[in-house]
Amino acid sequence: FLTLDDFNFEDKRVVLRVDINCPIDPNTEEILDDKRIREIKNTITELINRGAKVVILAHQSRPGKKDFTTLKNHAKVLSRIIGKDVKYVDEVIGTTAREAIVNMKNGDVVLLENIRFYSEEVLSEWKKWEDITPKKQAETNLIKRLSPLFDYFINDAFAAAHRAQPSLVGFSYYMPMIAGRLMEKEVSVLSKVLENPEKPCVYVLGGAKADDSIRVIKNVLENGTADKILTSGIVANIFLIAMGYDLGINMNVIENLGLVNQIEVAKRLLDKFGEKIEVPVDVAINVDDERIEEELDKNKKVSGLINDIGEKTIKHYQEIIKNAKTIVANGPAGVFEKEAFAKGTEELLKAIAVSNGFSVIGGGHLSAAAELFGLASQIDHVSTGGGATLDFLAGEKLPVIEMLKESYKKYKE
Ligand code: 3PG
Repeated sequence: FLTLDDFNFEDKRVVLRVDINCPIDPNTEEILDDKRIREIKNTITELINRGAKVVILAHQSRPGKKDFTTLKNHAKVLSRIIGKDVKYVDEVIGTTAREAIVNMKNGDVVLLENIRFYSEEVLSEWKKWEDITPKKQAETNLIKRLSPLFDYFINDAFAAAHRAQPSLVGFSYYMPMIAGRLMEKEVSVLSKVLENPEKPCVYVLGGAKADDSIRVIKNVLENGTADKILTSGIVANIFLIAMGYDLGINMNVIENLGLVNQIEVAKRLLDKFGEKIEVPVDVAINVDDERIEEELDKNKKVSGLINDIGEKTIKHYQEIIKNAKTIVANGPAGVFEKEAFAKGTEELLKAIAVSNGFSVIGGGHLSAAAELFGLASQIDHVSTGGGATLDFLAGEKLPVIEMLKESYKKYKE
């Protein structure tokens, strides 16, 4: 990648794309967790100190969702975090925004409005990213209007690196696309645990995004990265069903999540890599919000809704985590928001936190849990990515990363 080290920013106007999509209270609009804002501090502070005029583009949520709202509060939080006034402009391509941009002084920071308020940003055709070229995106009004105002495009939005949207890649048609400090850190840590981890390497995968997790499992087992996979959450339920367990009503949950087709995928993985995939030996059932532990038995149907892994499983998984040199975790082990079912998630996170191995966790849910239990600071790397981290670990090409590579080829000479 091109990095901030490759350019001089004195007197330059830069457009900086970040991902500060945060959990928000839909009633008060208060930002509930500012981790993603804290994580872009280094890039912004460095650009300010090096004399750049910094214009930030970002999104919050998606059209149609309750937390799809303005970036006004993000600007306040960002000002507090960087210790400098961030000017919030409530639009992106109109005269007000362009005048604000043109009138900036060195070291000024402007945050423009939620870029997804503009339909061009969220066109469904950007999904088929292999078919889109930056040229096509560069033809959008968003990019055509804004690009003449800037010298450089800096991308620090790792958490959105799996999206091929104009503000994420389109500017690269007109100017060098440079990785920000967070982007550099995320890609270097995640590449290491994917390509060259210290062994034994354990992947701990839970949560409800089971199809994404199963893609990760397939990749890290096929390329020999992982020595063990510890499954929990919905991911575990799918493997248990694939092994012939009768999970009763938990099958409905899998149906409702549209994940039935994953059972076949799990079967194939078990055939090939069975000894490397661990499944729970016991679970915690939710009976009127009370935790009832139940051992799993192939001849007995599970009696209720599984909300966590059981104590024997926790101990067994902790033992494996303890001896690992690399641990990568994504997705909670259970419904940790309910106190009675937080145990699995908390205990596995504790084991990860105290382990001597290099630890990486990803996904909004698990990072939120790590914060909640006060363990985040003991984890070596808490990724800002959700879907992006999973796609990366699944070995997929991420549009933003591919464009950063292209830009390197184009401009390094
Ligand atoms: C995320 O939260 O994973 C990123 O901000 C991307 O958001 P999206 O899934 O709405 O594109």
